[in-house]
Amino acid sequence: MSTFKRNIVITGGAGFIGSHVVRLFVNKYPEYRIINLDKLTYAGNLANLKDIEQRP
Ligand SMILES: NC(=O)c1ccc[n+]([C@@H]2O[C@H](COP(=O)([O-])OP(=O)(O)OC[C@H]3O[C@@H](n4cnc5c(N)ncnc54)[C@H](O)[C@@H]3O)[C@@H](O)[C@H]2O)c1
Repeated sequence: MSTFKRNIVITGGAGFIGSHVVRLFVNKYPEYRIINLDKLTYAGNLANLKDIEQRP
């Protein structure tokens, strides 16, 4: 059984705005599982999430 209180899917989370949204949720709600679904187009950049990439 999942130990997370909620599961939240964020789309486009490797982009400019989305990466800030993902970071905000990961840091503000550690009890939630944040799932980032991104097509990784030219606008997506995983380096935007470098500081939180090890988080579950
Ligand atoms: N100041 C800056 O440095 C800067 C940098 C980038 C963008 N911007 C501005 O920010 C605004 C847009 O930012 P944003 O973050 O909304 O968009 P974005 O274009 O930066 O990112 C969109 C994200 O969605 C992803 N994506 C695209 N299609 C998808 C799909 N079908 N399924 C899943 N993921 C998908 C892309 O891979 C990308 O990661 C614009 O006004 C732009 O000019 C500013």
